[in-house]
Amino acid sequence: MAGRGGEAVSDRREFITASVASAVTVLLTTSCGGSAGGLGGVTGPVSFSVQVSSYPALANVGGIARVDMGGTPVAAVRTGADTFAAFSLICPHRGCTVGINGSAFRCPCHGAMFASTGTWIGGQRTTNLGSFTTSYDATTGVLTILN
Ligand code: FES
Repeated sequence: MAGRGGEAVSDRREFITASVASAVTVLLTTSCGGSAGGLGGVTGPVSFSVQVSSYPALANVGGIARVDMGGTPVAAVRTGADTFAAFSLICPHRGCTVGINGSAFRCPCHGAMFASTGTWIGGQRTTNLGSFTTSYDATTGVLTILN
């Protein structure tokens, strides 16, 4: 086109290429099922850490708190004095954000329910919540969640 130099075309091509690459990344992120690494499609950071004392709900065994990883909804469950579990709150049914419901989880979209272990227990039939590996440093009170 007249008035548009090769550099502008090159910039547009780079922009389009980058945009397509981003779209593919998003598509891959959202299309991976709950079985891919057990993370419900989470492709965020390799790990993140939270200070447990910042989440009063985690003070007692059985407590559940939302400890999101970037923009990804994640829940931590205190399973013992020095042990924790962590789950993706991306519903394995159709991807809604699962909520904490007392000592368990419930998806607001179609009603799937999950125990504090992440196991599907009723409502809309689906698979269990994706789980993360956790490690806890009792000395520092830091919970590390790995994907
Ligand atoms: S998206 Fe969660 S039950 Fe359908």
